[in-house]
Amino acid sequence: MPFTVAIDGPAAAGKGTVARAVAEATGFAHLDTGLLYRAVGLAALEGADPVEAARSLTPGALEDGRLRGPEVAQAASRVAADPAVRAALLEMQRRFARREGGAVLDGRDIGTAVCPEAEVKLFVTASDVTRAERRWRELRAAGREVGLEETLRELRARDARDAGREAAPLRIAPDAVVLDTTAMGIDEAVAAALRVVRERLGR
Ligand code: CDP
Repeated sequence: MPFTVAIDGPAAAGKGTVARAVAEATGFAHLDTGLLYRAVGLAALEGADPVEAARSLTPGALEDGRLRGPEVAQAASRVAADPAVRAALLEMQRRFARREGGAVLDGRDIGTAVCPEAEVKLFVTASDVTRAERRWRELRAAGREVGLEETLRELRARDARDAGREAAPLRIAPDAVVLDTTAMGIDEAVAAALRVVRERLGR
C-alpha cells in the first residue's frame, strides 16, 4: 500500500537524519531529494546545461562524494529556482513517493508540490544559528576547513533563495506538523517524528 511521509524544512534542519530514522523504523524506502538538486548543481558547475542534466540524471550521480560540499549546495539552490529543472525531476519523485511499501522523501517542496496528498507531512526547522552550527560541525568532521560565520552566511543566502523563488518555494504546508528542533537533541526529534507517523499509520 502506498504511504508517503513528506519531510520539508530549511537547510541543515535535521530533515535527513529524521527521514532516515523514520525509514529505518517503518521499513519505508527513503529519497533525499536534495541530492537530486545537488547532482544537477554539480553538473552545472562542470558546465552542463542544468535542464539536460536533470533529464538525464542517473542513480550513480547521487553517490558522488562532492555533493555534500557548500559550493555544490549553493549551485543546487541556484538550479532549483529554474522551473524547467524542477519539472524534469518531478515525475520520478512522485513515482518514488507512491511506490508499494511506503516512502519517506525529504526536501523543500515535498508536502506542498511533489506530494500534496502525502499521508504525513512534517516541517523540520531550527533557528538559523543552530542550523549553521550543526552544518559547520558536519563539514569540519568531514575534513573541510570552513568558518562558522561563512557557514551561517551561506545558509542564510540559500534559505532566502529557497523561500523567495517563484517555483515551489520553501513553505510550511497548511496541514504539516512543525517540529522545531532548536532545543531538541536528535533522539528527541526522531521520537517526535515517529509519534506523528505511527499515529497516522495506526501502529
Ligand atoms: O542538506 P541541506 O538541507 O543543506 O540541503 P539539501 O536538502 O541537500 O538541498 C540542497 C538545495 O536543493 C536546497 O537549498 C534547495 O535549493 C534545493 N532543493 C529543492 O529546491 N527542493 C527539494 N525538494 C530539495 C532540495
